[in-house]
Amino acid sequence: MSADLAAAALAAREHAYAPFSGFRVGAALEDSSGRVYTGCNIENATYGLTLCAERVAVFKAVSEGAREFRRIAIAADSETLTPPCGACRQILWEFCGDIEVLLANPRGKRETLRLKDLFPRAFDASYF
Ligand code: THU
Repeated sequence: MSADLAAAALAAREHAYAPFSGFRVGAALEDSSGRVYTGCNIENATYGLTLCAERVAVFKAVSEGAREFRRIAIAADSETLTPPCGACRQILWEFCGDIEVLLANPRGKRETLRLKDLFPRAFDASYF
């Protein structure tokens, strides 16, 4: 199961548009029914408009009506596995809460974390 989700993130990474950084990232987000939404990073010549793989996957899922999620796998080619950036942690918290985060690289290295451990004391709508 988790091997499949990591494989989906690795496959999505192949579609990355990253001519500026050369750093390709893939993500695969599983909803509560088992459906998987993938994403890759999509860069832009203005740099600041770059979208991370995780947010592409979340926005694809939400825009197709998914609202409950189980896990996300994130794949990049780094020896120390690549975690989601701060902006993606905030977006993941908004839509997925304390989901399981599976990190992967192409050489079979894997690590499983909880979003809450990556993003403690998160701000959300419960404060207002
Ligand atoms: N990137 C992601 O797609 N996800 C992350 O969690 C970290 C960073 C992308 C953004 C940019 O295209 C490249 O990696 C270098 O920062």
